Amino acid sequence: MDEIKGLILSGGSGTRLRPITHTYAKQLVPVANKPVLFYGIEALVEAGVTDIGIIIAPHTGDEVREAVGDGSAFGAKITYIEQDKPAGLAHAVLTAEEFLGDSPFVMYLGDNLLRDGVPGLVERFREETLDAMILLTRVDDPSSFGVAELEGEKVVRLVEKPKDPPSDMALVGVYLFSPLILDAARRLEPSDRGELEITEAIQVLIDEGRDVRSEVVAGWWKDTGQLSDMLEANRLVLDDIGSRLDGEIDDSRVEGRVIIEAGARVRNSLVRGPAVIGRDAVVEDAYIGPYTSIGDGVKVLNSEIEHSILLAGSSVENLGARIEASLLGREVKVTRSDSLPRTMRLLVGDRAEIEIV
Ligand code: DAU
Repeated sequence: MDEIKGLILSGGSGTRLRPITHTYAKQLVPVANKPVLFYGIEALVEAGVTDIGIIIAPHTGDEVREAVGDGSAFGAKITYIEQDKPAGLAHAVLTAEEFLGDSPFVMYLGDNLLRDGVPGLVERFREETLDAMILLTRVDDPSSFGVAELEGEKVVRLVEKPKDPPSDMALVGVYLFSPLILDAARRLEPSDRGELEITEAIQVLIDEGRDVRSEVVAGWWKDTGQLSDMLEANRLVLDDIGSRLDGEIDDSRVEGRVIIEAGARVRNSLVRGPAVIGRDAVVEDAYIGPYTSIGDGVKVLNSEIEHSILLAGSSVENLGARIEASLLGREVKVTRSDSLPRTMRLLVGDRAEIEIV
């Protein structure tokens, strides 16, 4: 069998994570201070897949290139493939045709996180020469995903975001394909939402009687397309971190598993893990509670934060209330002033969400 290549999809428009994704690729939003996309690259490399194509969109492609580089930092060789419009996952596969050649490949959606990675699956795909392999997991809201209808262990039908789901088994965003998927994708018409759907391409293989296997994922899986998923992914990843205190800590208590990066300063504060505090962050007279990721250069002064993600360069000062279940973008400022009258003064970008309780 030819060497298995990797294809990571990091294009798309990220509409559900606006406003963060107005200016930013959603796959670069950090989970535990590491871009989601990096977990996918690492998972492939760990499975021995190092020849990796990354699908990028015209408006966010440059920042993906800048963040990932040529792949040497990951032990991979990266080829960037620009998809002119987000016309669907099967369209992305067709865009990558030249890169893929006749190789079998693992397709990994760049906003997905899988706790246990993919090594076992790649191994099985290598050994059994299958035509396609899909991963499934039980979910509470199957109509938000591709869903499989099963007869025993056999997949008989796949439907994309069905109103009336045939099961609660959702398609996880990791697929293993032989080159046959390219022929199947070429035969598709755009779906009702105007995309070439990978679920339909796989259905073509099933209908032709090809060997399409499914496997139920063992560890957790998260699609980080929405805020609540992002926070949940952050929680799950932080649940597995260790402790490392490289920053400066004065008159403070650090409880549980906490990473404080070099250059960060924590003063007169309580940090209760699991939590990460990025490089050059300043935490003073503050409480950082469990499941919080504080990005590089963030300032938290005289404030309390828990179960939240603060992206690089943001600051939170003198709040009288605790921030919780929140995602602050880059260089966001949240502060309280003592001046009268006691009103709220906001300068907020398009499509931001603020909930005051
Ligand atoms: O996360 C699992 C789900 O992913 C599956 O259950 C669905 O069957 C599958 O269609 C997909 O659904 P989503 O609606 O979540 O896909 P999304 O549009 O978010 O795209 C997934 C990734 O692929 C994301 O990182 C953006 C990228 N992408 C997407 C499209 C449509 C591209 O690179 N190009 C594209 O044309």
